[in-house]
Amino acid sequence: MERLSVNLSSYVLLLCLISGGGMVVRSQSEKTWCVAKPSTDEVALVDNISYACSIVDCTILQEGHSCFYPNNNISHASIAMNLYFQSHGRNYWNCDFKNSGLIVSTDPSFGGCIYQFGNY
Ligand SMILES: *[C@@H]1O[C@H](CO)[C@@H](O)[C@H](O)[C@H]1NC(C)=O
Ligand SMILES: *[C@@H]1O[C@H](CO)[C@@H](O)[C@H](O)[C@H]1NC(C)=O
Repeated sequence: MERLSVNLSSYVLLLCLISGGGMVVRSQSEKTWCVAKPSTDEVALVDNISYACSIVDCTILQEGHSCFYPNNNISHASIAMNLYFQSHGRNYWNCDFKNSGLIVSTDPSFGGCIYQFGNY
């Protein structure tokens, strides 16, 4: 296992050297988050919030917690969908929600509300 990972990183390094450093190992280095598409209707957002929050811990969305404000469905859905996305491996299909999710590479955190990155 150790030997394999050493060999693999040497291989990746070699590939980078050959391609002049132009090769981007996207899935490894790029951070991604999942948010709700702004065009999604309120009923679907509520549906997406209850689905995601039946699987992940959405305590941060509750009153008195860091992501309660702004208290609206689009913001709450984005946070819930991101929690789901992060805890399921950040694959594009973990941010689908029947096409109401959007993967972004800019951290959507604001104020005291931190959008989780990584699976804690
Ligand atoms: C979310 O949408 C539902 C359904 O339209 C609405 O009843 C509810 O008040 C909304 N919640 C918030 C926090 O805006
Ligand atoms: C999420 O929202 C979409 C519509 O945007 C809806 O079709 C879907 O059933 C909702 N729930 C889940 C779990 O994807």
